Amino acid sequence: GWILSKRYGLNNMLKKYAVVGNPIAHSLSPQIHRLFAAQFNIELSYERILAPLDGFAGILRTFQQSGGLGANITVPFKIAAAQLVHEKTEQATLAGAVNTITFQQNKWLGDNTDGIGLLRDLTQNLGIDLTDRKILILGAGGAAQGILQPLFSANPASITLANRTLATAEKLAAALQYSSKCMACDLKNLPQQAFDLIINATAAGVKDEPLALPTFLIKQQTVCYDLAYGAAAQPFLTWATQHGALMRYDGSGMLIEQAAEAFYSWHGVRPETQSLISLLNSKIHL
Ligand code: ATR
Repeated sequence: GWILSKRYGLNNMLKKYAVVGNPIAHSLSPQIHRLFAAQFNIELSYERILAPLDGFAGILRTFQQSGGLGANITVPFKIAAAQLVHEKTEQATLAGAVNTITFQQNKWLGDNTDGIGLLRDLTQNLGIDLTDRKILILGAGGAAQGILQPLFSANPASITLANRTLATAEKLAAALQYSSKCMACDLKNLPQQAFDLIINATAAGVKDEPLALPTFLIKQQTVCYDLAYGAAAQPFLTWATQHGALMRYDGSGMLIEQAAEAFYSWHGVRPETQSLISLLNSKIHL
């Protein structure tokens, strides 16, 4: 009982994980990982760590020294994490960003599970076939960069990258090996056509700023997907509703799936995700 754990410090032997970001207070990762762990009777601790904007590397080192085995990395540190780790998976290299770190004694391994998380949600959970589809991605920041390669792996007809700052979208498109299937355009100068899938990867909703979009982008069968979840996804999804799109989703499925993938790489077992996605959807107002 407690005497043993006091004397031998058994509590300190819990497998230790964390999510690191700034801000971090609203991250759902601790709950998600604890619920996954409960599926397998795995005992772990999973905390939220607020890292100062200029102190990310130090925070990670301290966490590892205190016994940390792995960390999820969130806004705004995913690109910094890609530069800090000693080894990266192919997904992390292609994304230029790391959202999952495994601490080994002399080496930090970086992975990026965001793209696979989105792909799982779209294709497996929502049953959307991306083959030969025309995809529009709004935004060209870190979030957009992280999903491009995985989306191309599903063999769409094309991906149009539309950004407020045209040069950023052009740079991202040009760097791709699939550049012939990828075009960049200005958010204010979109091609006059409806798309099969529109993904909002801008930070407009998170920052509560307006995102003006032309109505010709949407037909009834257009799938509208916001990478954000909860309130931040509402403006885009409301716009989609108003213009008749029947299929509208926020990023809660992606959130759970990217966590499941990280959980698998740490614990070697694949958690069931559907019940958590339902739980999350019933808590946030869609
Ligand atoms: P993230 O890592 O979440 O993608 P980011 O790298 O800051 O965050 O990128 C934010 C993206 O949202 C960018 O594409 C940004 O456009 P710019 O490149 O022009 O900055 C886009 N964005 C942010 N606020 C926006 C707004 N109010 N309207 C349209 N796009 C916006």
